[in-house]
Amino acid sequence: MAGMSEKQHKAEHRNRPTGEAFMAFMREGWAPRSSELPELTEAARYAAARRETLSAAYPGERLVVPAGGLKIRSNDTDYVFRPHSAFAHLTGLGADREPDAVLVLEPVADGEGHEACLYFVPLADRDSEDFFADSRSGEFWVGSRPTLASAAAELGMPTRHLSELPDALAKDVGPSGLAVRVVRDADREVAQQVDEARAQGGLGSQAQVDASTEADLELARTLSTQRMVKDDWEVAQMQEAVDATATAFDAVVEHLPEAVRRGRGERWVEGVFGLHARHAGNGVGYDSICAAGDHATTLHWIRNTGDVADGQLLLLDAGVETDALYTADVTRTVPVSGTFTEPQRRVYDAVLEAQEAGLAAVRPGNRFQDVHAAAIEVIARHLLDWGLLPDDVTLEQTLDAKEGQFHRRWMVHGTSHHLGIDVHDCAQALREDYVEGELREGMVLTVEPGLYFKADDLLVPEELRGIGVRIEDDVVVTADGSRNLSAMLPRTADEVEAWVRAGGRRG
Ligand code: GLY
Ligand code: MN
Ligand code: MN
Repeated sequence: MAGMSEKQHKAEHRNRPTGEAFMAFMREGWAPRSSELPELTEAARYAAARRETLSAAYPGERLVVPAGGLKIRSNDTDYVFRPHSAFAHLTGLGADREPDAVLVLEPVADGEGHEACLYFVPLADRDSEDFFADSRSGEFWVGSRPTLASAAAELGMPTRHLSELPDALAKDVGPSGLAVRVVRDADREVAQQVDEARAQGGLGSQAQVDASTEADLELARTLSTQRMVKDDWEVAQMQEAVDATATAFDAVVEHLPEAVRRGRGERWVEGVFGLHARHAGNGVGYDSICAAGDHATTLHWIRNTGDVADGQLLLLDAGVETDALYTADVTRTVPVSGTFTEPQRRVYDAVLEAQEAGLAAVRPGNRFQDVHAAAIEVIARHLLDWGLLPDDVTLEQTLDAKEGQFHRRWMVHGTSHHLGIDVHDCAQALREDYVEGELREGMVLTVEPGLYFKADDLLVPEELRGIGVRIEDDVVVTADGSRNLSAMLPRTADEVEAWVRAGGRRG
């Protein structure tokens, strides 16, 4: 099903009729398009408030936030589009919207604040060839798309055709004129256009280019930091993502016997989770980690090619992403047969105790890094009690950030990260705002300690080799503590066993 857009045309394998009679025939005989405009969405109302916050941080500057473009998967086939997270956050657009769109916040002349405008390629008119011939934007190929008017109504901001963007970017840019900042990693072409506008405006020296690039990176940091505290609508989105994730976890547990029976059961698990994710939301928020037995000791095991067998643990780390692109990130580790062996349960209970300590540390006033500190102390203490740390190393010594950390051999990752539109959300925020920052009401974090004993780790007793356990929940910081968004999923060893034995029905 090769399209006929010019960009993709490398070799001509199809006839491309150009006759006037044919063109006229294609244009005629269509029922009129509805002129009804959509309502302003709730997502857009919250996005407007976020733009206000951003506007206040950059008075008098033009801010450019691209959605990004389609990415070729192979030959003339693209990956499903996903907008840049900053763009989604500031427009409320999710799912696959809107390739090549660019949000511009234009400072109001002689006034305060900014006026937002969305530049994008609207639905092609029926008298254009694109209507039936363009495989990336033509209605024949990708279905109906927004018009300038419908997008304006839906988003509550003016819209313009993308062809007007270059002039809008370049207008008045210069040392004595406007400063402009762009989110560089969202769309390289738009970043280039901004760079050209700067150069033409007289900001082309190396020092000026360096200063502009630094200003761009500062904007990206601000946008990332601005997402750390979620508004009410976002917290509701996170709960929706987690609810759908819990349902998908139930389905996976129900399908465990089938995964065992079929062989290559990790793929079966991935598929069952993915089916529910795609059905309930936009899909999975990141590639699902479906890891049975020793595969669970590979932190990002997303190959998922292995069997699932009775007697093993299955570690499933997966999250449904809503249509608005907010993702859950949940891990449960379950005994495939419905019963933990004694060593499996010993490891599981240690991880659970560490998670409880981490969860208890999630409250306003504590710092982000306190959550990890609380959990890792429990992990380290168990490893010490089990005689796994090097001889003579005390708990204090292994917890020493510089000279110790021996316990990391069995849990090398952090306990928490921010969660939202990105699974590792707010990643560009500064260390002082993120790791060292105080927890505030509305932040959403994971708490996810684990223990991973590789099958070939000769420093651990044989009975522990090949056991990997992680327990991961998503919590929102409240006024006086936290609320576990994923508390509906079984968590203690007994609860998990009962869940598996009941075929995924929660007690
Ligand atoms: N799923 C990746 C993580 O837990 O951070
Ligand atoms: Mn996580
Ligand atoms: Mn995870």
